[in-house]
Amino acid sequence: MELKSKDEDTNQRLNSLFSLLSEKLPEFFPKTPVKLREMILKTSDQFLFKENKSQWNEHWFQTGYLNYFMPMQYARILKALKMCLEAYPELESEISSVLDFGSGPGPSAIAFNDLFKKLPAWTNTDINKNSHNLAKEVYSSLNIKHVDFKIADQIPASKVSKELLLLSYSLCEGIAEENIFTYDHVFILEPSTKEQSRNLIKLRQKALDHGYQVIAPCTHCETCPMLERKSDWCHDRLTKPELVHLKEVKLPFSDKNLNYSYLFLSKTIKKIETDKVRVIGDFLKEKGKTKIAICKSKDRQFLSWLKRSKHTPTFSRGDLISLPSNTLIKGQEIRISAD
Ligand SMILES: C[S@@+](CC[C@H](N)C(=O)[O-])C[C@H]1O[C@@H](n2cnc3c(N)ncnc32)[C@H](O)[C@@H]1O
Repeated sequence: MELKSKDEDTNQRLNSLFSLLSEKLPEFFPKTPVKLREMILKTSDQFLFKENKSQWNEHWFQTGYLNYFMPMQYARILKALKMCLEAYPELESEISSVLDFGSGPGPSAIAFNDLFKKLPAWTNTDINKNSHNLAKEVYSSLNIKHVDFKIADQIPASKVSKELLLLSYSLCEGIAEENIFTYDHVFILEPSTKEQSRNLIKLRQKALDHGYQVIAPCTHCETCPMLERKSDWCHDRLTKPELVHLKEVKLPFSDKNLNYSYLFLSKTIKKIETDKVRVIGDFLKEKGKTKIAICKSKDRQFLSWLKRSKHTPTFSRGDLISLPSNTLIKGQEIRISAD
């Protein structure tokens, strides 16, 4: 699944989007890197150490979010949506409208606009009018048209078919889950902490009880094996985009990756059965072997191979892979033969 303009990858795309934004909205792109650094760090502290609530009435927050958090959110949504489309290529035709709840400055519509042939009827809803004002400026700069804006503090019940409820990093701000299951489709992205990821897995189980199918990232619609043990959780990862407009800013964030959890649920799309498995862990070195957690069924399972194996697998967390034919079941492990 490529971006609409085929010659761009996520990094290039983000850099061209932000080159346009910095030209059109100079008030949000401070001239000195030190000033921008301060605003991004203050915004980050707001999420990490303050009450984890967006502060759209503050210029420093708008600037910090727009420059750093918004591109990261775009990259997360884009990757998760690509994986949904990989699992279900006809997804676009099943969605007539989207309610992006807790939309903030609106990275979700930009990602959908980049991957879908045509943006579905789209409504950004947020508790704060200033986040809408920022989104309007961003969309107008990027020539994204026909987005509606609503103010609300609770998810409204869906009244139409084929409507997608999109919640990107908004449940984590304390939005009530009420009415979620009135939508034909639900796409949720949340931070990758153990608590938030496990909450999402619990919500997945409630959705199954309401008759939803899990389109992605899970490869099946059985109970999630990660629920078995309190120490387990599931999240996805991508390489952090390298942004030209942040090059001089020298941010102290050392993690080269972006983590997040996500779930795409549908009442109307029938899950396509797959023989593929999703890689949901990192490589674990054990005596004489390496293993990695995979999602295949309600059972907790690992793919493993012995040290003397000739082939070292190169996949990583989040990949959907075909199992090789030369495997052997050993308890929880699907072992790839040594030769
Ligand atoms: C972390 S931001 C995420 C913004 C955007 N979805 C993204 O991915 O970048 C969370 C958003 O939820 C909004 N929000 C928080 N509580 C809300 C509520 N009760 N009703 C509607 N929006 C809410 C905040 O104003 C903020 O814009």
